[in-house]
Amino acid sequence: MDLRNVGGKAYAHGVLLLNSNGMDVFYRGTSLTYKVIGGVLDFYFFAGPTPLAVVDQYTQLIGRPAPMPYWAFGFHQCRWGYHNLSVVEDVVASYQKAKIPLDVIWNDDDHMDGHKDFTLNPVNYSRPKLLAFLEKIHNMGMKYIVIIDPGIGINATYGVYQRGLAKDVFIKHGGEPYIAQVWPGAVNFPDFLNPKTVEWWGDEVRRFHELVPVDGLWIDMNEASNFCSGKCTIPEGRICPNGTGPGWICCLDCKNITNTRWDDPPYKINASGLQVPIGYKTIATSAVHYNGVLEYDAHSLYGFSQSIATHKALQGLQGKRPFILSRSTYVGSGKYVAHWTGDNQGNWENLKYSISTMLNFGIFGVPMVGADICGFYPAPTEELCNRWIEVGAFYPFSRDHANYYSPRQELYQWDSVAESARNALGMRYRLLPYLYTLNYQAHTTGAPIARPLFFSFPDYVESYGLSTQFLLGSGVMVSPVLEQGKTAVKALFPPGTWFSLFDMTQAISSKGGQYVTLDTPLHAVNVHVYQNIILPMQQGGMISKEARKTPFSLVVTFPAGAQEAEAKGQLFLDNDELPEMKLGGGSSTYVDFYATLSKGQVKLWSEVQEGQFALQNGWIVQKVSVLGLGGTGASDLEIDGAAENVEMSVSPQNFLAPLSDGGDAKSSLLVEIGGLKLPLGKNFAMSWKMGMKG
Ligand code: NOJ
Repeated sequence: MDLRNVGGKAYAHGVLLLNSNGMDVFYRGTSLTYKVIGGVLDFYFFAGPTPLAVVDQYTQLIGRPAPMPYWAFGFHQCRWGYHNLSVVEDVVASYQKAKIPLDVIWNDDDHMDGHKDFTLNPVNYSRPKLLAFLEKIHNMGMKYIVIIDPGIGINATYGVYQRGLAKDVFIKHGGEPYIAQVWPGAVNFPDFLNPKTVEWWGDEVRRFHELVPVDGLWIDMNEASNFCSGKCTIPEGRICPNGTGPGWICCLDCKNITNTRWDDPPYKINASGLQVPIGYKTIATSAVHYNGVLEYDAHSLYGFSQSIATHKALQGLQGKRPFILSRSTYVGSGKYVAHWTGDNQGNWENLKYSISTMLNFGIFGVPMVGADICGFYPAPTEELCNRWIEVGAFYPFSRDHANYYSPRQELYQWDSVAESARNALGMRYRLLPYLYTLNYQAHTTGAPIARPLFFSFPDYVESYGLSTQFLLGSGVMVSPVLEQGKTAVKALFPPGTWFSLFDMTQAISSKGGQYVTLDTPLHAVNVHVYQNIILPMQQGGMISKEARKTPFSLVVTFPAGAQEAEAKGQLFLDNDELPEMKLGGGSSTYVDFYATLSKGQVKLWSEVQEGQFALQNGWIVQKVSVLGLGGTGASDLEIDGAAENVEMSVSPQNFLAPLSDGGDAKSSLLVEIGGLKLPLGKNFAMSWKMGMKG
């Protein structure tokens, strides 16, 4: 995507080279050069002219982002090295004890028997005990996800492998299944371009789901990652891996393949950032897929093809909306999967990178994205983990995950991190209806959930290079601490009024935009909401299922000091188990909220489509908070809709920063109306007057 300002006006456009071959891409500030070693020069241009329009046009072509279940926006806890089920049980109990929200508990490969996909370790994760645990957490509304890797262990007593072999589902080399090494030892890789493989995979997922009713799948190592390179055979008379030392040391007998142009092409792309053969630590590029397709051409499609097959498998199971997390992605992956950014490091630099990576994936059409909170390895410091949860609580996909060799880093492990987590995740859980509505907008228009500031302020050039702050939707801005030892953030506030969401009496306003230094003690993160927005929020809770049942409140923002203004917001609610996310059919409701300020009169109303679903669920609006109002007080409240013991209160709002370039307002008012009982499924309207001095 290119965004440039020409004569004070911003223009965005996009270019896609749809090509799955190896390539180097050079960006030199004024030019972009592709060096591609095969395939078709299949170019697409997206005219924009806004960043949102580019992503809309792009995802019309490549596929709209997948709808996510509601719980996927809750907090997730994972780690590699939960050695047995009791540890997992203890993690869940400890989150409850620490009063930190948790929706989803994950297993890496620890539950497996000998690292083999779709199996259970009979001792550490005995099936009866695991089923009892799942019944317990499912009853609470929690979910459970496990990992699967594409490499299928070569093993005479392993049913998954034997059935695959019988159906001839594996990638070939020299007419035989290609041999690689991953965690189980020697493996073959399923060829997901083969329809028979997709069928077999679907059947294995079904069998596994009968064994363990998981709620989603995590597909890892699907680049595909191989601990060996070249053409390998299984050593005779030697156990590989032998059980000592890390499992990622190649122990097969392997030879480099150098006699084909596919393994040794004349132009060497900068694979892995190293001067290594193109097939280094992955499937040999001369290996062959279904229909004679070469790995040389299809390498970049491996994780994508597995994503499609896994999506089909899960959707076919119970007809539920699938949740899949994939490490490898390609153009179009967002239609099927969420993504995490892989093995990041537990340091400040990687905390910072996580923001730009997340923002990129939003633009790529994969809006459900996040990084391992507190870092995958090495161990984070306590301070870093505090700051990381304050950022990670606002990743669209929010998961704490750690390496096998790292010390434990669940959020309750340090009292200070637990406090930051309660604060930041507490806000996330109150914002769940907003995040879920953004998911709907992503699914219908491609709009990223987490966005760079320039998406909302394309004419404001100062915002272009900024990746230390980000937006959720069009107007909720997160400005976190990203540096060690800092308790203040110098944050950019684009032109207009911004209100602190943690303390709605605090505002920042300027006509031309400004940097403001915000005090940000260890347990605080800055979250501001922009003017002209109506934000639907709920009361939060320890689990999204419960948070979802609580009454709604609406936060309405007007530009401070404005005489005339309009605010808007949207809310989408549905039965999130259904595979499709759409309006209609009695299982969803859409609400447009509107507010106007004119001649001291405030009006707020809703326009509901398909209200039945919201009415059945009994959702109500209990409170509205209107920010940025002028005048001295509020009176003449009229409400068209149910209300009981209505309370109206008015408090002053302070401006944190001097209005450096002449913003009109020196102060404004926050008007809160509580005790409402407005059914969300019905149109409502209310109005009142702001009194003027004198
Ligand atoms: C690599 C993944 O990136 C990481 O998240 C996971 O813990 C390990 N594989 C082990 O499965």
